[in-house]
Amino acid sequence: MARLVFILGIALALVASMADAAVVERTFRVGNLTVSRLCESTVINAVNGRLPGPTLDVREGDTVVVHVINDSPYNITIHWHGIFEILTAWADGPNMITQCPIQPGHSYTQKFTITGQEGTLWWHAHASVIRATVYGALIIRPRQGTKGYPFPKPDKEVPILLGEWWNANVVDLANEAFLNGTSLSASDAFTINGKTGDQYPCSKEDTYKLEVEKGKTYLLRIINAALDNQLFFKIAGHRFTVVAVDASYTKPYETDVIVIAPGQTVDALMVADATPARYYMAALAYVSRDNSSNLPFDNTTTTGIVRYKSASPSSQPVMPTMPSFFDNDLAFRFYSSLTGLCRPGDGTVPLHVDEHMFVTVGLNFAACLPSQVNCITQSLAASMNNASFMFPTTMSLLEADYKGVEGVYTDDFPDYPPVFFDFTNASVNSDTALTFTTKSTKVKKVKYNTTVEMVLQNTAIVGIESHPMHIHSFNFFVVAQGFGNYDRATAEKSYNLVDPQERNTVAVPTGGWAVIRFTANNPGMWIMHCHFDSHLLLGLATAFEVENGPTPESTLPPPPPDYPAC
Ligand code: C2O
Repeated sequence: MARLVFILGIALALVASMADAAVVERTFRVGNLTVSRLCESTVINAVNGRLPGPTLDVREGDTVVVHVINDSPYNITIHWHGIFEILTAWADGPNMITQCPIQPGHSYTQKFTITGQEGTLWWHAHASVIRATVYGALIIRPRQGTKGYPFPKPDKEVPILLGEWWNANVVDLANEAFLNGTSLSASDAFTINGKTGDQYPCSKEDTYKLEVEKGKTYLLRIINAALDNQLFFKIAGHRFTVVAVDASYTKPYETDVIVIAPGQTVDALMVADATPARYYMAALAYVSRDNSSNLPFDNTTTTGIVRYKSASPSSQPVMPTMPSFFDNDLAFRFYSSLTGLCRPGDGTVPLHVDEHMFVTVGLNFAACLPSQVNCITQSLAASMNNASFMFPTTMSLLEADYKGVEGVYTDDFPDYPPVFFDFTNASVNSDTALTFTTKSTKVKKVKYNTTVEMVLQNTAIVGIESHPMHIHSFNFFVVAQGFGNYDRATAEKSYNLVDPQERNTVAVPTGGWAVIRFTANNPGMWIMHCHFDSHLLLGLATAFEVENGPTPESTLPPPPPDYPAC
């Protein structure tokens, strides 16, 4: 009898959990939108006529179905940043990696189930630099009937999407940069929820406002959707408790500044415990490169206004004291202080490593490609292990892999750089044998369920810089990070194999290194790249080809019927 009750109990629980899971169906129409910003009227690409685009608000276990319709004049794709995409590699979205682009006038339905992840993620275009204005939040709440958040339930939740703005057409700028063999020019502004804020000309009305009540707690879901800049974010008079990053819970971490790289998210609790008044929230660039070279960057500040209900709407908002653009120590302190919450049942860091990789990341020079018609003598480039990634043009990597088509890519991405040198010493720039790279489409092939440790080592070629490295489909654990050249003997002593932070994007310390570990437990083709779009376009990428496993549950099904053709 007891046994029957037990079985019945399990059956009921199963039915209940299945009943909880919903199908969330949406239409994303990408098209032109005319907006005015900074005293100018500009035509941008936007989803459903909004900037930022619509928020996808779902629960863990839900199946998401998005009909993407391309009414824009560009080839586009949409990527669900941070979603595991278990057995749905066809829906991941990066252009020419998992699919050909959706051409103007065409559509593609992307379907995936959200399994084993909660928190803040986002979606964005993944072709050229179209994500500058084609992005939105993807919020995953705990499944109904579960314990809910591992922190006291906030009174209100507020998405804060940080973006970057160009007055000119940013796709034109990127095309021009490619032809010249240079990098995308600096932006004109940053934005909070699509608005620049009143520190810019003609922008008084274009300011994001958040009304708060004294004593209440707000969960800020902060997303860095900027193309090419890490950011410092503060709110005058208030502190934060970080409770999650990249949809992975962290141990609570108290801070008055958030440091966030493109691709990353931070969930932070903020108690409205200040004197009722008006306060600015503000974000500006964290510029990690050595600025003695005086390279131009966007040195503007975007602001929003936090207003206490009882405060006078005409009072002057209090401005936070912002960090210096170049505060590497502050950025490192924030990034390296986070630890995972580690609840029972959560994934744990692999203790056994099947594949060790040591991968340099950074900028380079390369010969001009014939298509770079305005490029003189050499082009700016970027690489991983001196392989500068070139997107295929005839067929996506995934389709080529699935159909066994040769000649689209090679699976010889190296586990180590061609030579070991004094990676972070600026004198490397006098040796063209080290600074030059070549273009190729190399991927790293691994067996299903392989555990990978990758040391990411920044180089001083062209200049040191903190690159936000992102992998599709897999969260990884950041087990250690530091400045200078990685040295296994000393670094290994600092490995956190107990409660490391789990992320999908790590900002490798400038002129330094980070060690990540993950399990390649999903068959497909998964791009790994720098989440600065300008660097991705210069070749700072590779991909993992993860083979099918032994069972139907570990085998990628065929592509959907409306899978875009090139
Ligand atoms: Cu935010 Cu390749 O992704």
